[in-house]
Amino acid sequence: MAGVRLEAKVHIVTGAVSSAQNIVKCANRTGLNVSDIVLQPLASAEAVLSEDEKELGVCLVDIGGGTTDIAIFSGGSIVHTAVIALGGNNLTSDIAIGLRTPAHEAERIKQKYGCALASMINKDETIEVPSVGGRQPRVLGRQILSEILEPRVEEIFQLVHREIQKCGYEDLLASGIVITGGSTLLAGMPELAEEVLGLPVRRGMPRGIGGLVDVVKSPMYATGVGLVVYGARHMDRRMFRNREDSNVYKKVKGRMREWLEEIF
Ligand SMILES: Nc1ncnc2c1ncn2[C@@H]1O[C@H](COP(=O)(O)OP(=O)(O)OP(=O)(O)O)[C@@H](O)[C@H]1O
Ligand SMILES: [Mg+2]
Repeated sequence: MAGVRLEAKVHIVTGAVSSAQNIVKCANRTGLNVSDIVLQPLASAEAVLSEDEKELGVCLVDIGGGTTDIAIFSGGSIVHTAVIALGGNNLTSDIAIGLRTPAHEAERIKQKYGCALASMINKDETIEVPSVGGRQPRVLGRQILSEILEPRVEEIFQLVHREIQKCGYEDLLASGIVITGGSTLLAGMPELAEEVLGLPVRRGMPRGIGGLVDVVKSPMYATGVGLVVYGARHMDRRMFRNREDSNVYKKVKGRMREWLEEIF
C-alpha cells in the first residue's frame, strides 16, 4: 500500500515559554526536580476521570482559586481545552465586598457557610459576619450569602457552557460534566451546574490511589494527584531531569519541541 498524503487531527496548547520557565524555576527553588510540564486540566483528568467517561465523551471543569480550566474528551482523546479567568478568589472578594468583611473572614465564611444555590438554604438560618474598622459584628441571613455567591457561580458555568457550545462538542458529552478543584467543595455546586449546563454533573475526587488517601481524597487535590499519576504513567518518556542542559529556558524549549515530535 502506498500513500501520498498523511493527515492528523491534533490538539495543540500554546503558552509563553517564560511562564513555563518561571514555574520550573519556582519548583527548583523549593528543592524539587521538574520531570515534565503538564497542562493543569490534563493532570486533573488523570486523577478524576475514568477511561469509559473519556471514551463516551466528558467535560472536566476544574474550578480552582484563580481560574476555571476546561478539558473535553471524546473517543478516548482530549479534543478541547480552555481556561476561564474566574475562580474561587472571585467568590471570596464578592463576599468581602457584599458583606463588608475582611478578605480572610470572607474566605472562612465561604468555606463554612457558603452555598451556590440560594433556594437550598432555610430562610431562618443566620450567620455572624465580622465587620471592618473595629465595628460590631452583624448577624445576617445565610441566604444573603448565597444570593451573593449564586450569580457568580452561574456566570462561571454560563462561560463554561458557551465554551462547550463554541467548540461544537455539546451533543457528544454522553458522560456529562465532571466538576473538580477546591471551589467545587461549595455546597450546591453540582445542582447549579446541572441547571445551567443541562447535563448530568458529578463531583470528581482523585481515585485509583493508595497511601494517604483520606488526606488527598478531595477535589482540591485533583491536579496534584493527577500530576503524580501522570508522572508514574509516563516514566518511560524522556524527562527534563535527564537533560544535561542546565539552562531552564533551553529545557522548556526542548520539551516543547519534543511534544511536537511525539505528535508528528
Ligand atoms: N470548603 C470550601 N468551600 C468553597 N471553596 C473552597 C473550599 N475549600 C477550598 N475552597 C476554594 O478552593 C480554591 C482553591 O482550589 P484549588 O486548590 O483547586 O485551586 P488552585 O489549583 O490552587 O488554583 P488554580 O487552579 O486557579 O491555579 C480557593 O479559592 C478556596 O477558597
Ligand atoms: Mg487548580
